[in-house]
Amino acid sequence: MPKVIVQTPDGAEHTVDAEVGLSLMEAIVDKDLPMEAICGGCLSCATCHVHVDPAQMAWFEAKTEDEEDMLDLATNVTDCSRLSCQLKLEERHDGLRVVIAEE
Ligand code: FES
Repeated sequence: MPKVIVQTPDGAEHTVDAEVGLSLMEAIVDKDLPMEAICGGCLSCATCHVHVDPAQMAWFEAKTEDEEDMLDLATNVTDCSRLSCQLKLEERHDGLRVVIAEE
């Protein structure tokens, strides 16, 4: 069960024990952390925006064009921006660090 360190916009860090196969968004929402994820993971809202630790960006597949398009509508976008509903968690993601992006 990979552990993910999630920083919320207030600066607090939370350890999330994520089930393999869940998306990062699902793991964050299951832990009741502040993430709207309005569309439930169907890539039509960008309210699951996170910043991935720069050293860990390569842990995931590159963004699809659809994810890029949704991120174009988000605020506070950086080179480390991802939509967490598109990041499937595997055992090898243990130690992942992300920050929930401020809107
Ligand atoms: S939850 Fe809507 S795009 Fe990720």
